[in-house]
Amino acid sequence: MVLGGKEGLSSLGRAVVNPGDTVACPSPAYPVYAQGVATLCDGHVKTMPLTKENGFLPDLTLAEGCKMLFCNYPNNPTGAIATEYFWRQLAEFADTHPETVVCHDHAYSEMTFGDYVAPSFLQYTSNAVEMHSLSKVFNATGFRIGFCVGRADYISDLVKAKSQIDSGAPLMIQRAMADGLAGYCGQVPPKEVKEIRKIYGERRAFSERALRELGLDVIESPATFYVWARVGDDELPFVQRALDHDVVVTPGRGFGKEGGGYIRLALTQSLERIALAMQRLR
Ligand SMILES: Cc1ncc(COP(=O)(O)O)c(C=O)c1O
Repeated sequence: MVLGGKEGLSSLGRAVVNPGDTVACPSPAYPVYAQGVATLCDGHVKTMPLTKENGFLPDLTLAEGCKMLFCNYPNNPTGAIATEYFWRQLAEFADTHPETVVCHDHAYSEMTFGDYVAPSFLQYTSNAVEMHSLSKVFNATGFRIGFCVGRADYISDLVKAKSQIDSGAPLMIQRAMADGLAGYCGQVPPKEVKEIRKIYGERRAFSERALRELGLDVIESPATFYVWARVGDDELPFVQRALDHDVVVTPGRGFGKEGGGYIRLALTQSLERIALAMQRLR
């Protein structure tokens, strides 16, 4: 059990990475891999660029010799999902590189729409760990909690590091989340999760359409509440003009310099407010 995926990822890094080690991090990416792990553990970052051309999937040869490797699908910030071929490649990497701890960040495992089901990386290998975030699964961002599953010795190292960092999540949050998880019937989620999916799915479909109508190059996806769109070579003027109209979009470079030229929308407002934001962007 972790105090949310964020804490879990950085504590896992603390358990694995020593000063001078190199951590393979996608870019753009959730900043915790490069900063919360590599930088705070006095390690180095090996950047694995995610581009439209490579389908936002990293070139794993860049991770050769690294102590740790992070991946995240469905992906923040791009919304991308991984192909079956990529999962197999990543599993082969994990199986043939015992010197590298492979961590799949599965924060958006449940935030999928239509027929798409996000697989667990542990379906492909047991030589890895996977981090889960229940604040995402149950839309409970004020109650951070999550869990890490996978290879026993990695989990045991994580537990050892955490024993010096925290003393567990508050019991009421543990019980609430256990109750939520008990609502699962195999892969079938409880009705609350289905409702969350419906809401975000509608917001996503609406936003993708609206941004396309504005002439932006939108990355379409069946997952996550993030929309990734290209606005030109430099996204900052767009971000500033949006802000001038009280619309907050995140500059892509905030997720690593490879994210430059893109903006990320987080669909965490009602459909009505998203519609208003789109009108203002227009
Ligand atoms: C990719 C990714 N991993 C992990 C987290 C953190 O999850 P938690 O809210 O459980 O700390 C987030 C978002 O906050 C995220 O986008």
